[in-house]
Amino acid sequence: MKCQEIRDSFLGFFEERGHRIMPSAPLVTDDPTTLFTVAGMQPYIAAFRGEERPPAPRVASNQKCARMGDLERVGRSATHHTFFEMLGNFSFGDYFKQGAIEFAWEYVVDVLGIPPERLWITVYTDDDESEEIWNKQIGVPLERIVRLGRGENWWPEERWEGPCGPCTEIHLDNGPETGCQAANCGPACDCDRFVELWNLVFQMYTEAPDGTLTELPSPGVDTGMGFERLAMILQNKNFSTETDEMWQIIQRTSSVRSRSPGRTGEAISTTDATLRPTWLFG
Ligand code: GLY
Repeated sequence: MKCQEIRDSFLGFFEERGHRIMPSAPLVTDDPTTLFTVAGMQPYIAAFRGEERPPAPRVASNQKCARMGDLERVGRSATHHTFFEMLGNFSFGDYFKQGAIEFAWEYVVDVLGIPPERLWITVYTDDDESEEIWNKQIGVPLERIVRLGRGENWWPEERWEGPCGPCTEIHLDNGPETGCQAANCGPACDCDRFVELWNLVFQMYTEAPDGTLTELPSPGVDTGMGFERLAMILQNKNFSTETDEMWQIIQRTSSVRSRSPGRTGEAISTTDATLRPTWLFG
C-alpha cells in the first residue's frame, strides 16, 4: 500500500463505522502548555474534560504532530521522527474498551492483513478488563499479553492536568532473530525487535499535580497509530524513512546536495509537485 492509500484506508474504515472524519488541527497550537500539537487527542482535550461538546460522539483523524522529546532517538531507532502523522479514532462517552479493541484488531488483522501471530499486546498493570477482552474475546494467547506500568501503559507518562488513563498497545514482533536477541526481550525493550504500532488510551481521569485522579464526566477512547511506522511495516522496509513518500524526499534532497557548491542557491521548492504530499500541503 502506498502512503496515501494507507491514510485513505484508515479514515475510510472508521468513517464506515460511524466516525466523523476531522481535519488535522494546526501543528502550532494555541494550547498554552505546549508549543506544538503532540498527539491526535490534543484538539479534543476540552471535549474529554466535558468542557466543550465534541464534534460527534466518535471521530477519526490524521493529525500532524511534533515531539521534541524524541529528538535524540531520530536516526538511531528505525522508527522515531520529530514530525510525524498520527492516525487516531476517538470516542467521547460512546464506545469504550471493548469497542476500541475490536476496531483496532479488525483493522490491523482483517483490513491490513498483518498476521495475528506476529502481534503482541501490552496492558496496564491492573487492567484485568482489557486483558480479558484481548484473551477471551479476540483470542490473543496470554503468552503474548504483557502487563506494564506507568512508563509504558499509562498516557501520558508524565503527570499533567489534562485527560489521562491506562492504555493498551499493539506491537509487531519482527522475530527473535532481530533486535537485541536477549532471552527476555519483549515489547518494552528498546531494541528494534518490537515495533509499537497502535496505542489505545482509555481516557478516564484528570490528574492533579499531587497525583490525585479525578474521573472525567464520561470515559472516552483516544487512539494513536504512528503513520510512518505503519507505512514502514506495510511496505516491508527496515526504516520508516524508506517508505514511498519519505524516500522521494530523501532522494531529491540528496540530488540537490550533491550539486556543486556554486549552485547551492537552488533550494528545494515546496511547489515541486513530486515533493508535496497532498494531505500535508493541500
Ligand atoms: N494519545 C495517544 C498517543 O499519543 O499515543
